Amino acid sequence: MLAMNYRGPRRVRADQKPMPEILHPNDAIIRVTRSCICGSDLHLYHGLVPDTRVGMTFGHEFIGVVEEIGSSVQKLKIGDNVLVPFNVACGQCAFCKQELYGNCHESNSQATAVGAIFGYSHTAGGYDGGQAEYVRVPYADVGPTVIPEDMDHDDALLLTDVVPTGYQAAEMAGIKTGDTVIVFGAGPVGIMAAKCAWLFGAARVIVIDHIEYRLEFVRNYANCEAYNFRSLEDPVLFIKKTTDWFGADVCIDAVGADASGNALQTITGKKLLLQAGSATALHWAINSVKKGGIVSIVGVYGPTDNLVPIGNVLNKGLTIRANQASVKRLLPRLIEHVRAGRLNPKALITHRIPLEEVADAYHIFSSKLDNCIKPVLIPPSARK
Ligand SMILES: NC(=O)c1ccc[n+]([C@@H]2O[C@H](COP(=O)([O-])OP(=O)(O)OC[C@H]3O[C@@H](n4cnc5c(N)ncnc54)[C@H](O)[C@@H]3O)[C@@H](O)[C@H]2O)c1
Ligand SMILES: [Zn+2]
Ligand SMILES: [Zn+2]
Repeated sequence: MLAMNYRGPRRVRADQKPMPEILHPNDAIIRVTRSCICGSDLHLYHGLVPDTRVGMTFGHEFIGVVEEIGSSVQKLKIGDNVLVPFNVACGQCAFCKQELYGNCHESNSQATAVGAIFGYSHTAGGYDGGQAEYVRVPYADVGPTVIPEDMDHDDALLLTDVVPTGYQAAEMAGIKTGDTVIVFGAGPVGIMAAKCAWLFGAARVIVIDHIEYRLEFVRNYANCEAYNFRSLEDPVLFIKKTTDWFGADVCIDAVGADASGNALQTITGKKLLLQAGSATALHWAINSVKKGGIVSIVGVYGPTDNLVPIGNVLNKGLTIRANQASVKRLLPRLIEHVRAGRLNPKALITHRIPLEEVADAYHIFSSKLDNCIKPVLIPPSARK
């Protein structure tokens, strides 16, 4: 089968790989009909995630058709159209029982800090991902969800990650009626977080990025204010000024380890790898939220350390909330939001690219070319 193949930092290609096989009675093999590239894949692509092995297939945002099931699978049948949450979760451990599916204790048993994610390095379990024609999905009775008949498959695709992550960012931020919300990052996740902030009662939503076409997109899509940090003298000062020097009620970091905007963070985090990526957006979030405020982090950082102003967290009495999104927990309510038209995920899709051209797709998305917001890869078998 054809699959994306990681060859080292900034080198990926489409290659033939052996078909995945059922290895456990609760596995399913899914024939992928479309998959996305995510900002999280860029951390892998840029070489920022430890133990990203050559030969791995990335891809944790995919939908497809059930091709084969193991002997114990009860909830799926061959031919079902399913969306597959990005978390690999057992459904039975102490954490899954609390609906912390992003923190499953079983699916990545070599690690106590990191749960498992499809196609996300051996740090996150070593499972091959869905940027391929076929993918093995473990715990098939837990994650995969049959796509409702009335749902557009592009919407279903974005329910595997972007929508739940944006929504959980707003939820963890504890947004109350009347709050001013700052979202750092106007990628798909930040765009969705800004959109969801209104659902929780925000009175003002401000997005910060430095890519003009994304700022323009989020202004229209999420009906919010959006500013380019390169045209501000200091984004923290700007946010303080525009909130009567109080600071924002909540700040959301939807950037993570690939952040730009601070030379020291960029050199130590992205060039010399002395910390787990650049924590520039998190730094700004902590410094521009009000005293007693909440910083919600969905931008991904590695398991090792980062330079963050912990003294300001202490002295301002901040609450920091962070996690990988728990997709399965959120799906029922998000399907309703999409049905009711309150969220329109598919509007984020700007590119449909054949899987054979995966190298170009990564380059376009990584370099923010051609007004790219969200690229979708289509395997050859899904184009027949
Ligand atoms: N927690 C989760 O469950 C989860 C799920 C999906 C994605 N993520 C993470 O969310 C983050 C965003 O994902 P995405 O797909 O939107 O990525 P993306 O790369 O498309 O977008 C990131 C955006 O941040 C902007 N940016 C860079 N530095 C900035 C700064 N200092 N301040 C403000 N903006 C800045 C970039 O210009 C870009 O537009 C990534 O870190 C990704 O790994 C987390
Ligand atoms: Zn993702
Ligand atoms: Zn579990």
